[in-house]
Amino acid sequence: MTYQNLLLNVSASIAVVTVNRPEKLNALNSKTIEELKEVFTEINKDENISAVILTGSGEKAFVAGADISELNKLDMISAKAFSEKGQEVFNLIENLNKPVIAAVNGFALGGGCELALACHIRLASENAKFGQPEVNLGIIPGYGGTQRLTRLVNSGRALEYILTGDMIDANEAFRIGLVNRVYPKEELIKKATEMANKIASKAGNAVRLAIKAVNAADSVSSKEGQDYEASLFALCCGTEDFKEGTSAFLEKRKAAFKNK
Ligand code: COA
Repeated sequence: MTYQNLLLNVSASIAVVTVNRPEKLNALNSKTIEELKEVFTEINKDENISAVILTGSGEKAFVAGADISELNKLDMISAKAFSEKGQEVFNLIENLNKPVIAAVNGFALGGGCELALACHIRLASENAKFGQPEVNLGIIPGYGGTQRLTRLVNSGRALEYILTGDMIDANEAFRIGLVNRVYPKEELIKKATEMANKIASKAGNAVRLAIKAVNAADSVSSKEGQDYEASLFALCCGTEDFKEGTSAFLEKRKAAFKNK
């Protein structure tokens, strides 16, 4: 499948999805949102893909937000649909059955910051800049940012960034827990690939169920979450990989997972 505004490269079970509108700093127009839905739907079904890296094309940006030329034309009815469509696609990414690592290689603003927030793990280059500048446009974040940013960095910090529209650099993003790690620009994709390969070498069902269990923490009580965890833990114990992982430890050898 080919895309107008995305690049997809699959190598050794790792998919790299690159938002590819560098002349517009990879701003998310509706075509790009639709293509993100298509590519992540396909990746979800593809048993040959174990992990995904999401990044932006060019030297400056991961994604500089929703496309403001499209935003400018919204009315109240179309805006609701616009927001819900983006939320649907970002929820698809958050609930993917394989890990998605954001490799944030420059500006991650507005919808770009929200896109990174929907990924499971965020790695950033030293030049990355994060922000929710929607207030400068007379709007609020509409692709899940008010919820995900608040859960990740607390409401005081989320409100500071959403109300001032200020950008923060990669080191500040690391300090507040918005990104997991920061690397020199030229090392970012290499480090993201190393992490993706490491995760891909683990028991696939355990990885998939761990994502489900952790994601549930956002929406259920601790008691419900722990009941769910116990059920998913039990499911793991029905897999061949569970037998292989535990036997390999006891036999002092490296596990050879078949991801079953
Ligand atoms: N939507 C549409 N186009 C965008 C865009 C966006 N979110 N962000 C950047 N672009 C376009 C610019 O209009 C420009 O296009 P042009 O060359 O046809 O005029 C091109 O990308 C390059 O951007 P430019 O502003 O010239 O780069 P810069 O290095 O001077 O500034 C930013 C970079 C990120 C600070 C600036 O582009 C910006 O503030 N973008 C908007 C960020 C934003 O508000 N995002 C939230 C949207 S919800």
